[in-house]
This record gives sequence, structure tokens and C-alpha cells, in this order.
Amino acid sequence: MKTNKSVLVSGGTGFIGSHTAVELINAGYSVVIVDNLSNSEATVIDGIERITSQKIPFENVDTCDLKALRGVFERHDFDSVIHFAAFKAVGESVSEPLKYYQNNLVSFMNILELMKEFGRHNVVFSSSATVYGDADELPVTEQSPRKPATSPYGNTKQMCEDILRDCCAAYPVTHGIALRYFNPIGAHPTAIIGELPRGVPNNLVPFITQTAAGIRKELSIFGNDYDTPDGTCLRDYIDIVDLARAHVAALDRMTDGKMQQKYEIFNVGTGRPVSVLELVKRFERVNGVPVPHRFTARREGDVPSVYADPTLANEVLGWKATRDLDDTLRAAWKWQQSLA
Ligand code: UD1
Repeated sequence: MKTNKSVLVSGGTGFIGSHTAVELINAGYSVVIVDNLSNSEATVIDGIERITSQKIPFENVDTCDLKALRGVFERHDFDSVIHFAAFKAVGESVSEPLKYYQNNLVSFMNILELMKEFGRHNVVFSSSATVYGDADELPVTEQSPRKPATSPYGNTKQMCEDILRDCCAAYPVTHGIALRYFNPIGAHPTAIIGELPRGVPNNLVPFITQTAAGIRKELSIFGNDYDTPDGTCLRDYIDIVDLARAHVAALDRMTDGKMQQKYEIFNVGTGRPVSVLELVKRFERVNGVPVPHRFTARREGDVPSVYADPTLANEVLGWKATRDLDDTLRAAWKWQQSLA
């Protein structure tokens, strides 16, 4: 396998990382996974191997541990990194900010430091629509202003984007793409890998599937008095496999030497706003299972509406979300049932 088709996936046993590893392998990349399993399970590696029929080199290393991470760079000859390894619970980041700054910033700086030291070229950073905050105009484009972050988690995404921008400007070797994800949902259609939330889920779809499965009594819909068509929040739900493929498109662009600038940013969303209530009703309809729910107070920090203008990714990366929302919701339910 050619070196420039080799990629290190940090956080590769997580929800987005595992699906991305599968799509990279399907696209002909060879993948090394580094993950300390702090919020995932080693069995995910088996799942990726089952889906792709390939053995995946796995390094159980904390990306915050520079010395141990250097060993990973010494042992494997990849030219690109996709960096997912980070904490992502918005509420927890408010109560434990240092944990988030320490982990999310140090791990990314370690990656960039070692890429520079070892002369590795390309990095894709896992950013978030959270950087747009409560946007003045919708849909948001990559040119839309970033708003002050409402949580330390969101702040780490903004800071990591800035660190990447500065490193790309300063170091000849470093090339970066930040992908700003909207709301990733669903699971692999095989139901071999999916989202594995620990404890009570924070995100909507795992809460819906657990409620449908009877693990949770009812879903609270946070607020029905927003200035939106049905009063519930609008989001841009992106299928996890579509999202994974956006990483392949970004990496192809980098490894084919097609980048116009050393640092580029792309929105990764569908461009289609869907309300919380609409999503719940749709889940019930396509899966034929009730999701008991009631309206409760707004959740602090939630923005009423955010959805992407994905034109840039469509045109420049040649990537487009293609999976049907009904199929995504079917996959999410199939995955939940497979956990029983
Ligand atoms: C949040 C973060 C985002 C992060 C993403 C994935 C913010 C503003 N957003 O997105 O940065 O990348 O999680 O971790 O920090 N909802 C309910 N009931 C529930 C759960 C959610 O009604 O039990 C509603 C929320 O109010 C929201 C929508 O569902 O309107 C989606 O919520 P969620 O899945 O948590 O994602 P975001 O808050 O959009």
C-alpha cells in the first residue's frame, strides 16, 4: 500500500471514528487506530474488522501522552491523520472545564507536534457546527461568523480550529482541513457498529432509541416555544455513513494535492432543517414503535435553529449527503435492537 494512502485515525473506536475507519478502508486506505478506550469499547475494532474483512492495527494509547504517541508515529508509516479523539459532553464541559481544555487541546497539539517532527503532511480535524453558535442567518456557510462559544467544549473546537490554522500557516509540512459537523445520527446499516453512549445519553437519537426500547420511560423534548414552525428546535441531522464519507473526500483532496490553501474548512450537513418533534414522529412511523414523549423546559445552551449550507463541500469535495432520513432512523433502531 502506498504511504500516502495510509492514515492514523485517533479516536477510531468512537462513533464517528469507527464509521470513518470503515469508509476509509472501503476507499482503499490502510488505517491505524489509536484510542485509549476512555469512551468506547475494544470490541468496536472487531466490528470494523468484521465489516471490512481486514485486520486493523490498533494502538491503545492516550493521545495526550506525547511519549506514547511518539511510539505510534515511530511504529507506523502513515502520511495523514484524522483526529477525532476528544471529549464531547457539552454539559460536563461546563462543570469540568479543565478536563476538556486539558484533553481536547493537548491531544491535538501532540498530534500536530509529532506530524511536524515526523514530516507527516495532512490532518483532518473534527470540528462542529457549535462554532456558529446562535447564527444570525441560516443556513450557515463557512463564511458565517463564529460566535463566542457557549461551553468549554465548543470553545475547544474553536481553539483547535485556530491552532490548526496557525500551524498550517507556520509549518511548511502541515496541511489541514476542518470539517464542521452538524448532528451526526444513525448507525452502520449492518448494525455491527453504532453509537455507544455511556450512562444517560445527552444526544437526541440515542435517547429516542433507548426510550423506544423501554430503557428510558419517556423522552423530554426540550422546549416547544421556539420561534420555529412547530415550536421545537431545528437541526441538520446527517447520517453517520454520509459523514464518514466526507472524511474520505477530504483526505482524497489532500492526498491528491488538490488543496487550494493549506487550511480549508467545510460544513458537513444535509442543508435540510428537521424539527425535534418531526424527528420523533418520523422515527415512530418508519420503525412502527412508539416513543413516549412530553414537552419540558428549554435546555440551557440550545440554539433554536442551525442547519448547513453544504454547497462548498458539494462542489469542492464532490461530497453530498445521500442517505435517506428514514433509512438513517431505521439503522439507528436496528442498532439499538442489536444491543439487547
Ligand atoms: C450538541 C452540541 C454539539 C455537539 C453535538 C454532539 C451545542 C450547542 N451542541 O448538539 O456541539 O457536536 O451535541 O455531541 O453545544 N433534545 C431533546 N431531548 C433530549 C435530547 C435532545 O429535546 O433528550 C433536543 C435538543 O434540545 C436539540 C436537539 O434535540 O434541539 C438535538 O440535541 P443534541 O442531540 O443534544 O445535539 P445538539 O445540542 O444540537
